[in-house]
Amino acid sequence: MGLFSSKKDGLIAIDISATGVKLLELSEVRSGYALQSMAVVPLPRDAIVENTVIDSMAVSQALLDAVEAAKPSARRVVISVSGNAVIIKVIQVPTTTEFDLESQIDFEADKHVPYDIDDVYLDFQILGPDPEEPDQMDVVLVACKREIVDDYQLVLSEAGLETKCVDCAVFALENAAEIMGILDDDVVVESFEEDEGQAIALVNIGANLVNVNIIKNGQMAFVRDQFYGGENLTEEIQKEHGLSYQAAEDLKKTSFSDVHPEAVERFYVGLTSELVRSLDFYAANHGESPVRQIYLMGGGALIPDIATEIEQRLGINAEVVNPFDKIKVNKKKFDMDELNRMGAMMMVPVGLAVRSFDA
Ligand SMILES: Nc1ncnc2c1ncn2[C@@H]1O[C@H](COP(=O)(O)OP(=O)(O)OP(=O)(O)O)[C@@H](O)[C@H]1O
Ligand SMILES: [Mg+2]
Repeated sequence: MGLFSSKKDGLIAIDISATGVKLLELSEVRSGYALQSMAVVPLPRDAIVENTVIDSMAVSQALLDAVEAAKPSARRVVISVSGNAVIIKVIQVPTTTEFDLESQIDFEADKHVPYDIDDVYLDFQILGPDPEEPDQMDVVLVACKREIVDDYQLVLSEAGLETKCVDCAVFALENAAEIMGILDDDVVVESFEEDEGQAIALVNIGANLVNVNIIKNGQMAFVRDQFYGGENLTEEIQKEHGLSYQAAEDLKKTSFSDVHPEAVERFYVGLTSELVRSLDFYAANHGESPVRQIYLMGGGALIPDIATEIEQRLGINAEVVNPFDKIKVNKKKFDMDELNRMGAMMMVPVGLAVRSFDA
């Protein structure tokens, strides 16, 4: 299996998470990308807990249902990992070639990864020379727990799918953001004063995880997965309204205006403090380029008015993104309104699918 490798024609993206399975397939067209097939299938609660597949029957059935619904043209897949399955660090190593680093990466990783190196899949990407130390270079190191990837691979194979590539959710977000043009320098510059640092944050609010990727001058500067998400709001609603989990989920998604403001307030206080923590970590090393713009995505970004709330609470511009703004869609085959409604939630699968075309 070509873990994190780049040449992978004809792959479909599959994002397996606690709440469901998302499948998405793109094709390359002259203007960029076109949507080929897509399906979102919910998983029963606790089928996957903290990345561990508990109910493999339920997960492979959901995968089969997704394939049945989407009818993708391929059975080879690129999947994502996040949260406690993966450690991502920007490390400094003595300047060398990619080829040489390949043979030294175990040694370097051993200093930074708190697991036995034999228990993880490793990958790296050279960012460039370290601005402070000329004989060192910055490298993104990725270590992914083998047992988690192997478990996913097994349920995928039970559904007739072959795992060809594994990517990190935070990297997928960056790739999706790139095709949307939100990483382009001129777009970023527009809203800033000249000579200000140009940092933006991609914030993916899932059910249990918030993936944060801060990009400074077009390059990844900080990544972090935090344990917080839409489910915290569901729990606040359960408490405030005395509802079951499912009833609270339904209320949140279909009648948000009926949700007690206290529950919403507590959710935002928690979310803001998580985000501030990441922004502070980032600022400790990159104080000269503060984050000027937050792009919100993930199912949590579908909460009505979330961008305004974040903007007011953090004092940073915020906007919810929709990848289908930039993807060609056959309106006879897909319901455009539905795609636009849930677009923000599909950023990870879009980014995974995009990467499968990298040369
Ligand atoms: N219309 C909506 N309004 C508010 N919240 C929503 C809406 N649709 C989905 N959500 C919430 O978004 C979350 C799911 O988002 P997403 O699919 O991005 O997460 P996930 O990938 O399953 O989870 P994770 O990334 O944490 O493993 C759930 O908490 C869900 O309740
Ligand atoms: Mg997710």
